Amino acid sequence: MSATTSTTPTNRELDLQHLWHGNLQHRRLEANPPLEIVRGEGCCVWDSEGRSYIDGMAGLFCVNVGYGRRQIVEAAASQMAELAYYPLTQSHGPGARLAARLAELLPKGLNRAFFVNSGSEAVETALKMARQYGRMAHPGQNRYKIIARHRGYHGFTFGAMSATGQTLRKQAFEPLVPGFLHVPPPDHYRCGFCKHEPACTLGCADEVERVIRMEGPETVAAVIVEPTIGGGGIFPAPEGYLERLRAICDRYDVLLILDEVITGFGRTGKLFGFEHAGVRPDILTVAKGITSAYLPLAAAISTDRVFEAFRAEAEPDPKFAQVSTFGGHPVSCAAALANLEILVGERLWENSARVGAYLIEKLRSLDSPRIGEVRGRGLLVGMEMVADRETGEPLPEAEVVKLVRRIRDRGVLAGRNNDTVPGYCNVLILSPPLILRESQADTIVGAIRDSLKGS
Ligand SMILES: Cc1ncc(COP(=O)(O)O)c(C=O)c1O
Repeated sequence: MSATTSTTPTNRELDLQHLWHGNLQHRRLEANPPLEIVRGEGCCVWDSEGRSYIDGMAGLFCVNVGYGRRQIVEAAASQMAELAYYPLTQSHGPGARLAARLAELLPKGLNRAFFVNSGSEAVETALKMARQYGRMAHPGQNRYKIIARHRGYHGFTFGAMSATGQTLRKQAFEPLVPGFLHVPPPDHYRCGFCKHEPACTLGCADEVERVIRMEGPETVAAVIVEPTIGGGGIFPAPEGYLERLRAICDRYDVLLILDEVITGFGRTGKLFGFEHAGVRPDILTVAKGITSAYLPLAAAISTDRVFEAFRAEAEPDPKFAQVSTFGGHPVSCAAALANLEILVGERLWENSARVGAYLIEKLRSLDSPRIGEVRGRGLLVGMEMVADRETGEPLPEAEVVKLVRRIRDRGVLAGRNNDTVPGYCNVLILSPPLILRESQADTIVGAIRDSLKGS
């Protein structure tokens, strides 16, 4: 080895000395460093020591079409060679074509895309649109309140974090943005409304109406929900829930924002999560799967009705006062167009529905006293891990961390709902690429079964 190589620090050393990772206690990193991932192909990634893993999290709920798709790489490279950048203060083809493609894929009326860079920014944008719309559409009223749900996640920026219903993600940064209210999520396993009823009563949806009435509808701008709560612990909307929310929002002229940053683009077995319910949001937020994370891109997509309020002739002349330097980056938009061609061409939501149902069935057949419930929709799956099946007492977080590690040692990367609400960081999460095969689902289930032995 030459003198130069021997003194060259490794990536791991550089990481430990200079990188600041989110949600990780750096004191423990030296003993337990994060994996250095060097390559990806299909549903698998490889670390710097040559070990391969099934990526049971598709990165962070996002590599929907899988790794190594040349079509996306080539689309991005050729756009970069042609026009590396121009902001949407003017216009460019990839941006216009992507906005039109999204309108084609979405129900009639969801027609206007405002591009940004991340899910958090898409949520910020939607919240700002909703507040401004509320005031413009209801002159003389001050519609600024936003109703969200406990356990929901909407992002790390101040507005999105204020909408987030996870104390552990917020408390160090308080005070947050005023005007955010939280209601209980649909939590079938621990429901305070209908756990003892023969069937779901949708009491948690009705709670939204109660809050709107108590607060005064003339103060409420929007309700924001994920069709299936993702990072907070996988809580799919029960049957009739989104329809009930839609009806409540219509009754009080409150906007319904659906945050589909995770559930969009095939994750839950339909192209969009709201398709399970047949409702349409007023504003839709998307990110992650829009490019399958090959490049950063996100959007807040509004209906014509919302958009028209911003085109009205009024004094002062209304407009949406927000500019994003990188939002709608042409290279990201070109990658998104290629990604959508693959996703739609291969109808990947169908594989997500089929293999997701298979995965859930296999996980439900595991015999372990640690599994309280397996729930999910498509390839978005959660396992409620418990210390006691009778009482439903959550498995302590430290045990869930060890479980995730044992699964990783068996070649599968699983996730968990870390740092969400106190006492309930006990959900094991799976959200693999939508190209997952049944044989790979079997490998995931086998790794979980072996890791649970003796626990
Ligand atoms: C539902 C939801 N909304 C918003 C966000 C924030 O997205 P980002 O991490 O891209 O800012 C996430 C991230 O996981 C999310 O799951």
